[in-house]
Amino acid sequence: MNIPDFFNPTQVKVTKDKYTRRSFLKNSGLTVAGAVLATQTSSISARTVAGSQSTVPAILGGPKAYTSQRSWPQWDAEKFNPRMNEVMQSRVWSRSGKVNEFEKKWAEMHGKKHCLSTVNGTNALSAAWMQLDIRPGDEVIISPYTFSASVFGVLYKGAMPVWADIDPMTFQIDPKKIREKITPRTKGILPVHICGYPSDMPEIMKIAKEHNLFVVEDACQAHLAEIDGKKVGTFGNAGCFSFQGSKTLPIGEGGGILTDDTEYYHRLYSYHNFGYASGSVAGQISSITALILANKIRMAEYQAVIGLCQMEKLEEQHKLRNENAAYLTEKLSAYPGVTPVRFHKGGTQASYYIYSMIYHPEKLDGLPREKFLKALSAEGVPGVQSGYPNDPIYTQPFLHEVFKSDIYKKFYTADQLDFEKYKQRNHCPALIKTFNTAIWLWDPALMLGSKSDMDDIVKAVDKIHNNVAKIKDV
Ligand SMILES: Cc1ncc(COP(=O)(O)O)c(C=O)c1O
Repeated sequence: MNIPDFFNPTQVKVTKDKYTRRSFLKNSGLTVAGAVLATQTSSISARTVAGSQSTVPAILGGPKAYTSQRSWPQWDAEKFNPRMNEVMQSRVWSRSGKVNEFEKKWAEMHGKKHCLSTVNGTNALSAAWMQLDIRPGDEVIISPYTFSASVFGVLYKGAMPVWADIDPMTFQIDPKKIREKITPRTKGILPVHICGYPSDMPEIMKIAKEHNLFVVEDACQAHLAEIDGKKVGTFGNAGCFSFQGSKTLPIGEGGGILTDDTEYYHRLYSYHNFGYASGSVAGQISSITALILANKIRMAEYQAVIGLCQMEKLEEQHKLRNENAAYLTEKLSAYPGVTPVRFHKGGTQASYYIYSMIYHPEKLDGLPREKFLKALSAEGVPGVQSGYPNDPIYTQPFLHEVFKSDIYKKFYTADQLDFEKYKQRNHCPALIKTFNTAIWLWDPALMLGSKSDMDDIVKAVDKIHNNVAKIKDV
C-alpha cells in the first residue's frame, strides 16, 4: 500500500492550465456523458464517453483523464508569513495567547464550551482516556477500521479493548455490533469517524446512555463532518482531533479535545501541563507543584498560528468538498464496479479527508482490485489507495505485548489474555471484507477541485469500465 509519507510530503505545485484540451471539451459542452448512458444499461461494453477524444485508458497508452494538480497543505505566503513572523519575533513560542485564540475558535466553531489543544491527535485521545474513570478490568468497545493511535489511551488505563465490526457500506462502527459486545464490564465506546465520514453518533449515544458509558470520539480525520447539522466530536464526553499535516485542518502536528464538562476540562488542562493547577484541579503550595499524574503535551504558539491561518479557509473548503463529493457520488452511481461509501441515516456531511468507495470485482468481470487501482492511478487520479492493509488492529503485536505485561497479567485471567482466543473473539468479518474491497482517494485537496475535475475522475472510471478485458491482460 502506498501510504503518503507524512514527514516528507510530496509538495505538488498547482499547474492547472485554463486552456487544456480537457477544459476546451468542458467549455464546449462536450462533457462526460458515460454516467448518464450507464444508467440505461447494465452492460459494461455498452458504455461510452460522449465527447471524449480518447477513450483509451492511460494504462493502455491513452492520455490521462485527470491532469489537475493541487498541493496539500496549502500556504498563502503573502498573507500568512507576516503572522508567522510576528509570533517568531515576539519570542513567545511556548503556549500563550495564540494557543488560547486557536482553542477558543475551534470550540466556538463546534458550539462547545472548551477546547484543549495538544501536540497531536494521538495524545489528545490518550489524554481524554487518562482523565476518565476507567481502570484495569474495564472494557472499551472500539471501531476496528483504524490504526494503533486510536487505542493507546485505553491501554494506558489498563482497560481491555473490545472490537465491534463495521458497517461495510459506511465503514463506520455498527451500533448493532456494539450492542452485541456489551458486558457488565463495558465502560466506554470509542467510535472512529474514519476517512472523515461521520459514525452513527445518535445511536451510539443512545447505547451509551442506556449503559452509562463514556464516549470518546476519534474525530482525527473528520473535521466539520456532521450528523443532522451537529458536528462530530461534539456528541461524546470528549471529541478528539488531529491537525497533522495531511488533515483538512493541517498544522503539521497538533491535536485538540472538545468537551462541555468544565471539571473534566480542567483535569485535561492540568494533565497537559505537568499536572499543575488548573481550575478545579486546585493547587495550594506553589505554581510548580504537580497535583495529578500528568504529561506535557502543549501546543506551541507557532503551531497555533498555522492553525488559525488554516481555520480561516476551513468552512469554505468544507462546503466545496461536500458539493464536489455529492456531485461525484451521484455520477459514480452509474458505474457498477464501484459504490461510493454512503452516510448512515442522519449523516449529512463528511470532511472528505479520504473520498472512499467499495470495489465490486464481480461487476467488472473479475478485474482484481489492484489492477483497477493501477489503472485509476495511471489516469492521473491522485491519492489512489487500497486503504488500511489486511492486518486487523486486534491482531497486531503491540496488543500482544501489552497482554504479556505484568500489569495485565495481574488484572486479567490467562484465558482473557490468550492472544489466539482474543483474536477469534474479536474477529470482524465486515472489516476483513472492507480491507479487500476498499478504494481510497487519499488526497485532502482532491475535493477542492472544479466540477470538471470531478468529471475527469468519472471519465477515468468510465474508461476502466469500458476496457475491462484489455486491462485484465496488462
Ligand atoms: C483515525 C486517527 N486517529 C488518530 C490519529 C492520530 O493523530 P496524530 O497523527 O495527530 O497523532 C490519526 C491521525 O493520523 C487518525 O487518522
